[in-house]
Amino acid sequence: MSRVLKADATAIRKAAAILRRGGLVAFPTETVYGLGADAENETAMRALFAAKGRPADHPVIVHLADASLVDQFAIEVPDAARKLAAAFWPGPMTLVLRRRARIGDLVTGGLETVGLRVPGHPVAHALLTEFGGPIAAPSANRFGRVSCTRAEHVVAELGDRVELILDGGECKVGVESTIIDVSGKQPAILRPGAVTAEQVAAVLKGSLAAGSTFSPRVSGSLPSHYAPQARVELVEADEVVSRASELVSQGQKVAVIGPASLQLTDRGIEFLPSPRGDEALAHSLYALLRRADELGCDVVVTSAPAEHGIGTAIADRLRRAAGPRY
Ligand code: TXA
Ligand code: MG
Repeated sequence: MSRVLKADATAIRKAAAILRRGGLVAFPTETVYGLGADAENETAMRALFAAKGRPADHPVIVHLADASLVDQFAIEVPDAARKLAAAFWPGPMTLVLRRRARIGDLVTGGLETVGLRVPGHPVAHALLTEFGGPIAAPSANRFGRVSCTRAEHVVAELGDRVELILDGGECKVGVESTIIDVSGKQPAILRPGAVTAEQVAAVLKGSLAAGSTFSPRVSGSLPSHYAPQARVELVEADEVVSRASELVSQGQKVAVIGPASLQLTDRGIEFLPSPRGDEALAHSLYALLRRADELGCDVVVTSAPAEHGIGTAIADRLRRAAGPRY
């Protein structure tokens, strides 16, 4: 069984020692929990992909203690990347840059680019400092599933596939980092997150590529991802109640995620009230989806928030959770 330790200085030293000998450690970041391995140890990287059940050609994000380390891992760092790093690091942002050779093929899935992130969470920062090297860390969930925002979620997802879980309480943001590709001609957002498109555009003063946030090499861009066991149905806000009742009448066990003000008269519905405001919803979103699974629901009925600010990230994750399953 994996050990869960409160993330104090002693536990962080133990975690760094495990990483040094090629083991896997889960740790909190401000976005979601990460499953960490020494990014420069090939055996550790293989163990990481195996633990996640992740296809080998999907790149993982490399975490660094400080923005000043970027040039040790990336080449041709453009001005736009410097500006974004200065504005949003440490924080919930990943920059895709051209990689240095010391970043191996396993980390990047064979791509010539690498995703780098300087997390803002004090435990993540302390672990990176204590370890003293780059930590490769995808979200600490099995491939395709909902990310973890609490240590007990990691236990449920990975069990003894991880040696040590550092418990740093609930992740503040709740959805994964904003990924910005700054390796091409024009910066482009590959995955929306807490650093919003509006904020990025303000820093880059308009040089942000418009349009597609789809890239098949970003596994979070696959249609079905961030998905609970329950099916997810996204409907208009004013259709949530009627659709839920309809599904109940068909004999399905239904969860509804929606504002506390919803008038749900159907007793068969598991109501999971969502907190007010998009930041609060992002924070709770994955825990609510996990709750629907714990309750054994067949389907979650909910609606997506308007696409601005962090609402764009919530809508993106809900669409992917609702996407076709293979
Ligand atoms: O908030 C986060 O980003 C969390 C925490 C733990 O840092 N990590 C996370 O990692 O969400 P993961 O592996 O679950 O998602 C990382 C995404 C993947 O979809 C991957 O394909 C994409 O980043 N990615 C990584 N390197 C890339 C690259 N060089 N080019 C394009 N996409 C890349
Ligand atoms: Mg993930």
